[in-house]
Amino acid sequence: MTLSLTINGTRHDIASDPDTPLVYVLRDELKLKGTKLGCGLEQCGACAVMVDGKVVLSCVSPVEVFDGQEITTIEGIADTEIGQRVQQAFIEETAAQCGYCTSGLVVAATALLSDTPAPDSAATKEALTPHLCRCGSHPRVLRAIERACAS
Ligand code: FES
Repeated sequence: MTLSLTINGTRHDIASDPDTPLVYVLRDELKLKGTKLGCGLEQCGACAVMVDGKVVLSCVSPVEVFDGQEITTIEGIADTEIGQRVQQAFIEETAAQCGYCTSGLVVAATALLSDTPAPDSAATKEALTPHLCRCGSHPRVLRAIERACAS
């Protein structure tokens, strides 16, 4: 069975077992290593990608669920003006420490600002709730999102 995924605007025919979680297909088959595997249990947010504009955790759902859908990974996030602004704001606010959670946070922030250009603090915190940062960078991440909104 061949699946077809559109990732960052490029179509890929996938040879992996349809039950394989999406993150393994991205990292191992397609060599898109920007999406991180953390907990593998949909509890840390490291594996976040956008699917048809919504944040999806890619570590549990089988790749067959995404057949025919538009997926954006961190590698494609700067293809949009909002994604560029978010990435730049993360850089300017030094919003990454070890960086392991950063791609998921950038994806989540881009999805948030694409949907709500000027979210209030409560909406931003709610959008980031699924994303853990063991380094404690959340204050800088929140400042980065404020900066991205203002730029
Ligand atoms: Fe998917 Fe943690 S690796 S949520």
